[in-house]
Parts: sequence; structure tokens; C-alpha cells
Amino acid sequence: MNISVFLGAPGSGKGTQAKRLSETGSFKHFSTGDMLRAAIGEGKLVGKKAKEYMDRGELVPDSIMIELIEEALSHISADARVILDGFPRTVAQAEALDRNPRTQVKLAIQFNVPEKKLIERLTGRRICKNCGESFHLLFVPPKQSGVCDKCAGPLIQRPDDSESVALHRLEVFNSQNQKLLSYFSSASKLQEINAAQEVESIQTLLRQILC
Ligand code: AP5
Repeated sequence: MNISVFLGAPGSGKGTQAKRLSETGSFKHFSTGDMLRAAIGEGKLVGKKAKEYMDRGELVPDSIMIELIEEALSHISADARVILDGFPRTVAQAEALDRNPRTQVKLAIQFNVPEKKLIERLTGRRICKNCGESFHLLFVPPKQSGVCDKCAGPLIQRPDDSESVALHRLEVFNSQNQKLLSYFSSASKLQEINAAQEVESIQTLLRQILC
């Protein structure tokens, strides 16, 4: 498998960019946040275990996350190009991928965005309750207020996008990210990008890197 991982703070735009890349048909996209939210919605045990951590803005334990991603990747063909968005978040998760020759990481892309912008992006984000599509009240507004452009579903705020939980998520991110960057940098697999640009400019840059 050709695996690229998207690293970056909450709100740095990993999901927005990964979804667009997957729409080209060239990549399989796995967002562990979306997978957990789907599991919660479907009342699955893994969702029940994860919810209390997510609501507090904490990381879900590595054992749960590693099992979740290993299971998902076990169904993917060996020649697929894969983007992991939101995984790994700890060195233990990165090591779990690299331990298996089939899932070794080829490239880690770090999305850099100043913290003030991150808070703006998180608190203004709205997602579709039905299909999960992401919008922003100011930066990526839907055509009709409160309504998803893709499926006409209602737009809601994620519970963990309140300012207090978003700030805590950033603290949690900062406590882990430098170790992850060192892990991938020492393996010469790290590329950092300026993700404080327009959505389209970042997409163009990523296509140059990945395609
Ligand atoms: P998850 O859903 O992965 O949240 P996250 O990493 O905190 O990332 P976000 O979804 O908040 O941000 P993003 O970078 O995808 O930004 P987006 O593109 O949406 O995880 C949620 C929770 O699940 C975690 O807190 C944890 O509890 C748990 N979890 C998940 N994976 C885990 C793991 N591996 N280990 C342990 N726990 C795990 O953009 C944000 C907003 O900005 C949107 O409104 C968007 O429209 C807007 N925007 C995007 N790009 C731009 C741009 N260039 N300019 C202006 N606005 C933009």
C-alpha cells in the first residue's frame, strides 16, 4: 500500500483536503474522526467507548484506534494509494503502522496553520448531519444558510468545536505533535506545508506532492 498520512492541528484543513483528493478517484481516504463519529451514530461499541474521550477533546486510547485502523486497512488492496487523515496522532500509532510491511508510511505531510486561525476555523465550522460534509460560516459557506450543498441535510456544529473544547484539543495536539514530527523526520519521510492559504492553493500543492 502507498500510505500518506496527514498530520496537523485540529482545524488545519486535513479533512477538507483529503476529501477533495479522494474525489479524484486516485486515493482511498480514511478519517479516524469520521469513522468514530459514524460508529457513535450507529451505536457501535467502539463508538460508545470513544465518545467520552471525544466530547472532552482527549485522544481515544491507542489500543482502540490501532485496532480500528488495522481493521479498515485489512480490506484495502495492496496497490491502493491511501490517505490517513487524523491517524497517527501518537508515536505508538505510527509505530503500529510501520511494524506491518503492508501498511508502512511512505510520506507524512504536516499542515502548518497559526493557532489564532485554527480557533476561527474550528468555532465557525458546520458539518452536515446526514453526510458529514464540512463547511465554514465565513470561509466555506454553504449556498443556502444552514443547508448542505451536497445532500440538502441540516448543518450542525460538532460538540467538540465549542471554544473551550477546541482550545483543549489544541493543547492535546501540542503535547504529542513534536514527537510525531521527530519520528517521521528522522526517517526522512516528513514534508511540512503552509496550510494557512486558500483551500484551492493547498489542493494544488498537495497534488504536486502526491500525484
Ligand atoms: P477529528 O475529527 O480527526 O478532528 P481533528 O484532528 O481535531 O481535526 P478536525 O476535523 O477538527 O480538523 P481538520 O484538520 O480535518 O480540518 P477541516 O478540514 O475540517 O477527531 C475528532 C476526535 O476523535 C479527536 O479529538 C479524538 O478524540 C478522536 N480521534 C480521532 N482520531 C484519533 C486518533 N488517531 N487517536 C486518538 N483519538 C482520535 O477544516 C476545519 C474548518 O476550516 C472547516 O470549517 C473548513 O471548512 C475550514 N477550512 C479548511 N481549510 C480551510 C482553508 N484553507 N481556509 C479557510 N478555511 C478552511
